[in-house]
Amino acid sequence: MYILAIESSCDDTSAAVLRDGILLSNVTASQAVHEAYGGVVPELASRAHQQNIVPVVDQALKRAGIERTDINAVAFTRGPGLMGSLLVGVSFAKGLARSLSVPMIDVNHLQGHVLAHFIKESEDDNDQPEFPFICLLVSGGNSQIIKVNSYKDMEIIGQTIDDAAGEAIDKCSKVMGLGYPGGPIIDKLARVGNPDAYQFAKPSIAGYDYSFSGLKTSFLYNLRDWMKDDPDFIEHHKEDLAASLEKTIVDILMNKLRKAVKDTGITQVAVAGGVSANNGLRNAFRDHAKRYGWKIFIPKFSYTTDNAAMIGITGYFKYLDNDFAAIDLPAYARMEK
Ligand code: KG4
Repeated sequence: MYILAIESSCDDTSAAVLRDGILLSNVTASQAVHEAYGGVVPELASRAHQQNIVPVVDQALKRAGIERTDINAVAFTRGPGLMGSLLVGVSFAKGLARSLSVPMIDVNHLQGHVLAHFIKESEDDNDQPEFPFICLLVSGGNSQIIKVNSYKDMEIIGQTIDDAAGEAIDKCSKVMGLGYPGGPIIDKLARVGNPDAYQFAKPSIAGYDYSFSGLKTSFLYNLRDWMKDDPDFIEHHKEDLAASLEKTIVDILMNKLRKAVKDTGITQVAVAGGVSANNGLRNAFRDHAKRYGWKIFIPKFSYTTDNAAMIGITGYFKYLDNDFAAIDLPAYARMEK
């Protein structure tokens, strides 16, 4: 049974093919057009998806070694995301499923990120979390602590009340005049900087919720002060700034996660989403595994940022449940569940 999966929620056009839940191909076209603007421009993203979607799907089918007519179901990201971007993938999926007379499966993008931990590249790929587990989902648009009870049952027990972790990193990187997206640039600079060089504001809010807007403001105001004395302060200290910023964000993320693990008593802990590519965060997970006996799950780099493989595996579980989408199903920019 072959599933073709499509992801187009933001600025990556991705297609994947799975055979009986095993990943055969995963092809992603990123959009460099946004770099010049320091952030994703929705209109340009939709246009780039229009250009990329057919070649990306063709390439995914080719790498999987199948024909279009072999496809048994089409899975696609229904939301959340940028509406114009989603519409390209949703409309393409509808057209293709209709023309092939096969069912469609709608997938929640965030659920996809969490279930990326179940992507299997081969039959004997069995290092997967058991239910229930705790998942820290950190991306450009979300920062959540999720109690994952089953493939379908996910409880958000904590989330950001303002900016997401990735958004904070990207904005601080922009303030420093570095490129977009800031995450990978900050990560690289941080590897050679001193994480204890500077202190930035950390939030003190109750429960498992996060906040990153105070940190962002504190980063900006501190930089402004330091630059009064040395206009080239950023250039002179960018490695230390990046390392200190990364440490602050990782500390904020891990503090609440530790609390959630302690309170729930669930010690299987996964990380997902674009920011899970961050080396500082990955190291903090490894450190917690050693120190607190957590069994940790860290995704392969290719499954951290947006990809269709995670949409495919989520679609596969829904397919097994006969959970299909109606042809008139709309895309959703925001989704509660
Ligand atoms: O999950 P994702 O690809 O897109 C969504 O938000 O849905 O996440 C993108 C975010 C961006 O904010 C990007 O800067 C961040 O993930 N990111 C990183 C790294 N790679 C990507 N943040 C920190 N370190 C990285 N290595």
